[in-house]
Amino acid sequence: MGDTKELAVGYTRANATQSNAGLFLLQRLDITPGMHVLDVGCGPGNLTAHIASLVGPSGTVTGIDPSAERIALANQLLPSNPKLSFHVGIAEDLSRFPSASFDAVFVNSTLHWVRDQPAALREFARVLKTGGGGRLGISGGSGDYRTAQERIKADVLGREPYRAYEEEAPPKFLGRAELEGMLKDAGFGAWEIVVNRIVKETRDADEMIDWLDTSSSGKTYGGIPLELRPKAREEMKREWEKMATEDGIRMEMELLVTVAVRK
Ligand SMILES: C[S@@+](CC[C@H](N)C(=O)[O-])C[C@H]1O[C@@H](n2cnc3c(N)ncnc32)[C@H](O)[C@@H]1O
Repeated sequence: MGDTKELAVGYTRANATQSNAGLFLLQRLDITPGMHVLDVGCGPGNLTAHIASLVGPSGTVTGIDPSAERIALANQLLPSNPKLSFHVGIAEDLSRFPSASFDAVFVNSTLHWVRDQPAALREFARVLKTGGGGRLGISGGSGDYRTAQERIKADVLGREPYRAYEEEAPPKFLGRAELEGMLKDAGFGAWEIVVNRIVKETRDADEMIDWLDTSSSGKTYGGIPLELRPKAREEMKREWEKMATEDGIRMEMELLVTVAVRK
C-alpha cells in the first residue's frame, strides 16, 4: 500500500501541524549559517527549504525520503534554492553520505515509520560530526501517549472483515525510555527530551481523516486491500463523529522532541 501522487500533493496542502512541530524542533536544534544539514523523511521538502534559509549561502541542506512521489514534489523547489538537494532513500541506509559529513540531522514526524529504528539511529550517528560537533533533532509522536487516532484505527481495523489483513509495517512510536536506550547504543553522549503537547483541530471527521491519510501515505488503513478502504473510512468517520462538538474535532497529541549530541 504505497504512496500516491494524490496523497503526496494532499500533504503539501495540509501539513501545518507537522510544519509547526518541525519549527519547534528547529528552534531547539539551533541551526546556524554555514551548517550542513540532513533532513531525513523530508516529504515534499517545505521544511527542508526553510532550513536552507537558516544555513544561508555557505551551508547546504540535503533531503531524503523513500517516496518517489514526495521527492518529485521536493525537486520542484530546487531552482529557487541552490543550496538544496533531494534523494530517494531511507533512514536505515545513508551509505550515499560519508561518515562525519553533517552538522545536524533533522527528523520530523518520520521516525515512527522507520522499520529498523536502531539501525537508523546508528546511521544518524555515523553521518554526524563527532566530538560534540554533530547534533540530532527528532520530533514525533510519543509511545508513552495514546492518541484518539491510534484508538480508532485499532478499533475499526480489529473488526470484520478488516481483521484478516495484518499491517505489514505498522507505525512504531517510541517512548522516552526506549528512545534513550537507542540513543545511547547508537553513540550519542548527551541529550535533552521535552514533551510538546499539541492539538490537531479539524472542522469535521472528513477533514481529520483526509489529514491522517495524506500524513501516513495511506497507512491509516493498515494492511487492508484498496477496495475495502471506503468502507473502513466510513466506520472510522462514525467514530470521529462521536468526538465532534459545535467547534469541530480536537485530537490531543504528545510529541517527544529530542536534541542529542554525537560523542
Ligand atoms: C508525516 S511525513 C513528514 C514529512 C516531513 N518531515 C514533514 O515534517 O513535513 C513522514 C515521511 O516519512 C517518510 N518515511 C517513511 N519511511 C521512512 C524511512 N524508512 N526513512 C525515511 N523516511 C521515511 C514518508 O515517506 C513521509 O514523507
